[in-house]
Amino acid sequence: MSNKRILLIVTGGIAAYKSLELVRLLKRQGISVRAVMTQSATEFVTPLSMSVMTEDQVYGDMFDLKEEREIGHIQLSRQADLVVICPATANILAKMAAGISDDLATTILLATDKPVLAVPAMNVRMWNHPATQRNLAQLRADGIHIMAPDEGAMACGEFGPGRLPEPPAIAEQICAMLGHDFDTALTSGRSPTTLPSGASPTARPLSGKHILVTAGPTHEAIDPVRYIANRSSGRQGFAIAAAAADLGADVTLIAGPVHLATPRGVARIDVETALDMQAEVDKALPANAAIMVAAVADWRAAQAPEQKIKKDGGEIPALNLTENPDILASLAMHANRPKLLIGFAAETEKIVEHAQTKLAKKGCDWIVANDVSGDVMGGANNAFHIVTKDGVESWPESAKDVIARKLMEKVADALAKG
Ligand code: CTP
Repeated sequence: MSNKRILLIVTGGIAAYKSLELVRLLKRQGISVRAVMTQSATEFVTPLSMSVMTEDQVYGDMFDLKEEREIGHIQLSRQADLVVICPATANILAKMAAGISDDLATTILLATDKPVLAVPAMNVRMWNHPATQRNLAQLRADGIHIMAPDEGAMACGEFGPGRLPEPPAIAEQICAMLGHDFDTALTSGRSPTTLPSGASPTARPLSGKHILVTAGPTHEAIDPVRYIANRSSGRQGFAIAAAAADLGADVTLIAGPVHLATPRGVARIDVETALDMQAEVDKALPANAAIMVAAVADWRAAQAPEQKIKKDGGEIPALNLTENPDILASLAMHANRPKLLIGFAAETEKIVEHAQTKLAKKGCDWIVANDVSGDVMGGANNAFHIVTKDGVESWPESAKDVIARKLMEKVADALAKG
């Protein structure tokens, strides 16, 4: 029997009802749960139901004399091995980011000295709102672990990221953070898509790590209707983001214009140009590792007029280009440089040689070089040469999702070694 304890803070969203199921699953894993509910959480789930599930008193009122005398809010915040906020509304994330403590839940969050996992759930527009994304970046910088929401149909009828992950996936994440073996046999009704088939249920070596991935091409405007692009499909980068999420990471995927579904458990930010991509990469820091798979346009039009350039029978217009910033190289120099920084090199000849030059030029830790002379761009397979200062490792051609998994396992090993 485990002696692990979590303090579960339930805030007021429609997904609050799933917190009851989460408590059931955690208790089956042998983890004890003490619950705190905000005032608005009690509009969705009754404290009585929660109390029955936790087999304990439910805490909610900071100024309840009896509660505060029996176990004070400071004690409550320190007794657990992990504090979990599930579901975490946009409101509590904003309060946490600002350090507000105006009720028992927020006071505990400010007073705790234990790791904190937030499991957000909200409407897609609230999730995508710059204020929420800004708050999430602040919370990550403060060391709060964020579990990325699922994407799908929502209670409000909209579709997108913001759905609470299924309780078995949350229970699994909690177990990974507690270093407690997760027993799938004890979890009935677990989502079959939480892990890829064949993966070990405890294989979440990236849990608690924030991984940043860039993917796809960038589009650089020539005028409002024309742009410079490249043949990147984004598939390799999306497969890497998916593999990182499957291994338990909190993944931010910054994607250029592609027509691909967002992988489960990945927070996606869409951008169009290299300048947008650089701004979003900066905002997403800090990260434990960054994997820069995007085929960023090296140049953009020096001037992109606001009106369409007309073919008026005169001179053929000259396309003047200016250089885009090198996002990878600037990340290598950044004060918040990820511990492991990986660049990709799409090459058509002298693959390893060019990759070695790029490794030195860009200041990253690894270059993943691939031969794009065939139909790799947009194709289903890829072959990698991992070039580091210690040498070259060449992997045979495999499906993009298989090679992505292998790469992320190598990343997990490298991060574990410190
Ligand atoms: N990269 C970047 N910003 C740029 C250009 C490239 O972050 N403006 C990153 C890519 O995401 C990739 C790596 O740098 O991880 C190498 O990209 P690649 O296009 O192969 O390298 P370049 O520096 O553009 O060199 P060249 O095009 O001359 O081969």
